[in-house]
Amino acid sequence: MHTNILGVDVGASGIKGSLVDLETGKLLGDRIRLATPEPSTPQAMAEVFAELVRSIGYRGPVGCGFPAIVKRGVALSAANIDKSWIGYNIEAAFSAISACTVKALNDADAAGLAEIRYGDDENEDGVVMLLTLGTGIGSALFVEGQLVPNTELGHLVLHNRVAEHYAANSVRESEDLGWEEWAARLNEYLKHLERLFSPDLFILGGGVSKEFANFGHLLHTSARVKPAKLLNNAGIVGAAAFASF
Ligand code: BGC
Repeated sequence: MHTNILGVDVGASGIKGSLVDLETGKLLGDRIRLATPEPSTPQAMAEVFAELVRSIGYRGPVGCGFPAIVKRGVALSAANIDKSWIGYNIEAAFSAISACTVKALNDADAAGLAEIRYGDDENEDGVVMLLTLGTGIGSALFVEGQLVPNTELGHLVLHNRVAEHYAANSVRESEDLGWEEWAARLNEYLKHLERLFSPDLFILGGGVSKEFANFGHLLHTSARVKPAKLLNNAGIVGAAAFASF
């Protein structure tokens, strides 16, 4: 049983990785971030993935969170990455190029696993929904601590727009929305999710989770809302934990 495993979080703008101590869920050493290549084709992404593994000087199992539906190691969607990923085997490509055994899962599912395993005890009670707010919106749904994978709730439709094109953090930046304006959109989205799933708790992850003090008080839902305890590292930590299962 490995206790230190490399976790990688592949995103639409950056590929981040670090060695993770699976006892504590803490990062060991520096977190490395390399830019996601443009276009983000499988070949180009695999090269950056291999460069990251090399720069950490790592050999062993690797967990990889990936921004798509992932089933049995294969990407089945590509909302914010090159469309040629659809049907491509992430695990086979990344394992071959890095000479490591790579296990892949959806990036939000990875972040959710980290919050269940290393976050507050209450995260294992009832229906819990983790949302990553970044370029897109990722979702991870847990029922009494059990993951329902690949929920893709960022793709619900809100005001005739795909929800992630309305309320993701990238939209706050590109449309230059203030915290109040963006939080109002996020609140609408959360309320829509509540109508459908009646969660007990929302956990908000992604880079903007560290800014929770700027918008958390503007969200008014029946379910409690809190930032991810592991902030933007949740994806890396959860991916590493996944590789140890
Ligand atoms: C993708 C999801 C992903 C999310 C966050 C969405 O566009 O469809 O698979 O989890 O972005 O990266």
